[in-house]
Amino acid sequence: PGSAHRDDDGTLVLGGVTATELAQTYGTPLYVVDEAEVRTHAQRTVAAFRAAAAPHGVAVRVYYAGKAFLCTEIVRWTAEADMSLDVCSGGELEVALVGGADPARIGFHGNNKSVAELTRAVEVGVGTVIVDSPIEIERLAAIADRAGAVQNVLLRVNSGVHAETHEFLATAHEDQKFGFAMDAAPAAVARIRELRSLSFQGLHCHIGSQIFGVAGFAESASRLVDLHAQLLEGGPIPLLNLGGGFGIAYTPADDPTPIEDLAAGIVDAVARECEVRGIPMPDLAFEPGRAIVGQAGVTLYEAGTVKPVELDEGRRRLYVSVDGGMSDNARPALYGADYCARIASRVSGAPPALARVVGKHCESGDIVVDQEYLPADVAPGDLLAVPATGAYCFSLASAYNYLTRPAVVAVRDGAARVIVRGQTIADLLHADVGAEGNA
Ligand code: LLP
Repeated sequence: PGSAHRDDDGTLVLGGVTATELAQTYGTPLYVVDEAEVRTHAQRTVAAFRAAAAPHGVAVRVYYAGKAFLCTEIVRWTAEADMSLDVCSGGELEVALVGGADPARIGFHGNNKSVAELTRAVEVGVGTVIVDSPIEIERLAAIADRAGAVQNVLLRVNSGVHAETHEFLATAHEDQKFGFAMDAAPAAVARIRELRSLSFQGLHCHIGSQIFGVAGFAESASRLVDLHAQLLEGGPIPLLNLGGGFGIAYTPADDPTPIEDLAAGIVDAVARECEVRGIPMPDLAFEPGRAIVGQAGVTLYEAGTVKPVELDEGRRRLYVSVDGGMSDNARPALYGADYCARIASRVSGAPPALARVVGKHCESGDIVVDQEYLPADVAPGDLLAVPATGAYCFSLASAYNYLTRPAVVAVRDGAARVIVRGQTIADLLHADVGAEGNA
């Protein structure tokens, strides 16, 4: 992360605290999050979109997508950066509320929100529900009606653009579970407009995640503005929400577009499309998750064993096993995601050796970093730091093999504090009815 550096003995320093001290105090594996860096990314992202929108005279709401990493502290940090909050389950909604989020600034997503979840959302006054299916429109309308409320909604559509990293694909037919097909949207919007307990605010579209360039967003904006213009025949539409997906660097090879340039490119694309069609530009909303927290997180592990495996032509690979793995970072196993690793507890003059950092789970796909060059003297007891683990690691964590989920420690200005306690075996056994009283 931004504030990371090495101290005089070569120990990695995060938010002013050495990795060695963090590991000694809190144990490993450990999720470390740099508070100043989350706040900076949040402020910078909000500022980037506001600056991009200002010349066009429209407002922008930037929602933090809580699925990337949610706890009450993050709710506070992002709110203090003037972000709204996107949740996608009743559980995330409760964390948001406990964290003090303003319900009016919450957007509620999901393709299968339950009656209980929708009822709770209406009851607490969630600002926007992003509706995802015809059944949900009727369900939500009935709930809001009973509560005597008028619920603001966005309609999630598939623009047919699917983007990932620097590639995007435009497909005629999107065979996936989220949202409405473009050609089904007019009827759905007409139905929402008939229902007096729902108020149609605009379209929503999320084209993918870890996207590096503007092109996919611009293509999607063009299609959405087209639909938006068509729907204006039925009444004014204040908003257009273009989702999240802004990419970050996981390894030195990644080169994402700076958020200022992405924001300007996307907002200008919307403005152009509106101008071409002679329609007023709506206010905009975005929902970044990864871009806010991803690079602010580092996972610390301790190496337990180092084992050379002979490859062909006299080459060899060091298998460096750490004390966590796919339970604290499922992304390599799920998506083939790439990370990098460094020894955090010292610097070494040893030559680089081809290494694979692996976890301790009973599964050969339990990889933390598939390919890395680590000092050839990497040894048991070394602390390893894996950067850019702030997004979708804690939130995707499992207790596979009864490994307990690591604590989350926030570092800032030389001080560290636990913001989410680590799970214990007792926590896990607590749910095991047969173990009651024995744990
Ligand atoms: N808005 C909606 C409607 C979304 O579905 C998502 C992510 C976001 C915003 C935030 O996307 P972000 O800015 O974080 O890319 N587990 C995967 C990513 C799944 C993203 C799901 N939706 C991963 O670890 O790469």
